[in-house]
Amino acid sequence: MERTLVLIKPDGVQRGLVGEVISRLERRGLRIVAAKFMKVENKLAETHYAIHKGKPFYDGLIRYITSAPVLAMVWEGPNAIAAVRQTMGSTKPTEAAPGSVRHDYALEVGRNLTHASDSVENGENEVALWFKKLELVEWQREIDRWIFEK
Ligand code: RTP
Ligand code: MG
Repeated sequence: MERTLVLIKPDGVQRGLVGEVISRLERRGLRIVAAKFMKVENKLAETHYAIHKGKPFYDGLIRYITSAPVLAMVWEGPNAIAAVRQTMGSTKPTEAAPGSVRHDYALEVGRNLTHASDSVENGENEVALWFKKLELVEWQREIDRWIFEK
């Protein structure tokens, strides 16, 4: 079972899209593992986006993610990494598939509403960066066997 870190970024929170994004992930069949509403400290933002350090959009990205509260979550399920990125849509909203969150609600790459881990390995690392072990809830749903094949 894969796990992915999902952030509803400051623009998503400010625009009242928290429920919409969660609803889409729930409808997809994914299972929530953890959630916390928080302001992101500079240090966490810099660690999370370390791979983008030095790129022209880096400073703006750090300012964006630390500008107002985010909802940080962990979701799990078979193929959760690919499934969640598909639900969110491509990084650039104008390239995101119709029906995806970024297509339906965003216009600019610098205001693209959400983050989702891009590989199983990054998912594990990002979950460990944003959440303590005790904050991750292991649980089952009655309906799991009708969504998860194994
Ligand atoms: P995310 O990490 O937020 O899920 O987005 P992503 O994988 O689709 O995109 P990534 O390449 O990891 O970029 C991280 C975030 O940086 C901002 N960005 N701006 N102005 C630009 O060209 C540019 N490129 C990326 C976006 O907010 C993107 O989500
Ligand atoms: Mg990324």
